[in-house]
Amino acid sequence: MHHTGRNGASVLALSVALLGGCAGNGEGLDQNGRPLAPGGGSNGPLTADFASIQFHILTPICTACHAGGAAPQGLRLDSTNSYSLLVGIPSTEVSSTLRVKPGDPNNSYIIQKLEGHAAVGAQMPFGGPYLEQATIDIVRQWIADGALPAASAAGVGFGVTSISPAMHVIVTDARVPLVVGFSEDLDQTRIDGGSVRLEEIDRATGTTIREMPVRLSVPAGNPKALMVVPVAPFSDGLYRLTALTPPATGLSGISGSRLGGSSAVSGPVLLTEFEFETPP
Ligand code: HEC
Repeated sequence: MHHTGRNGASVLALSVALLGGCAGNGEGLDQNGRPLAPGGGSNGPLTADFASIQFHILTPICTACHAGGAAPQGLRLDSTNSYSLLVGIPSTEVSSTLRVKPGDPNNSYIIQKLEGHAAVGAQMPFGGPYLEQATIDIVRQWIADGALPAASAAGVGFGVTSISPAMHVIVTDARVPLVVGFSEDLDQTRIDGGSVRLEEIDRATGTTIREMPVRLSVPAGNPKALMVVPVAPFSDGLYRLTALTPPATGLSGISGSRLGGSSAVSGPVLLTEFEFETPP
């Protein structure tokens, strides 16, 4: 394993559930492809809001595969990561189509995958049993209504909640989006070229080989997420993404709180370190 935290970068502890494989295929569905209500349905029936979709569909059915470092196409659908990786984020398979396009279910890749007419790959859940159209229609309704996030607890402060690719993942498709999710809406006026740094790192010495120019954007409908798009293509190697902290520059939440808060975090904050490898 590669050492992290060189160059004075602090390591953010991110809890990522690593699943071994795709066991549990179809778990969470009854024999008719209807989602089971986990916990005896204490959370009520499936409704067209994100918390309900997470509880009834994404967590029980999709995270059998879409979780941890090995999640297909880098798409993790556990409750910590799903929203920041879905809404306004380009699909890996068809990068001209957003995974979820707020207000437009027909042009949302997740719907095309659930209904089985996406241009690439299989219908989801992979291998079935598939969701009933009535269930998919509830996901469609959530998207048509603007694909709003689940109501979140206030006052958590500004910090990183989700990062893709996850630490030490091997990425083999350059289209896998780089996304950082935060606990609070970003102050978009403070995002500039100095907000994050993407570098190729020498494996042996941990020093920087080159800095990769990036384009930063906040995806439509997903104001807690920052998408990082390298301008130049990846070559095989080790990459490190860091966030820069004040006073020089740095990201901040809409409430004005900065990364690291009032604690004495100074210098770059390590977000993730991943390998890029061209498939054989
Ligand atoms: C048994 C494993 C498995 C399950 C369960 C599963 N998927 Fe997938 N998913 C895959 C694989 C493998 C791929 C890539 C190959 C393909 O698309 O056929 C994929 C690809 C996708 C993609 C394309 C991602 C992109 O960025 O291009 C989406 C969207 C998706 N899945 C959504 C879902 C949803 C939503 C569920 C739950 C309803 C789900 N999947 C359940 C294995 C699974």
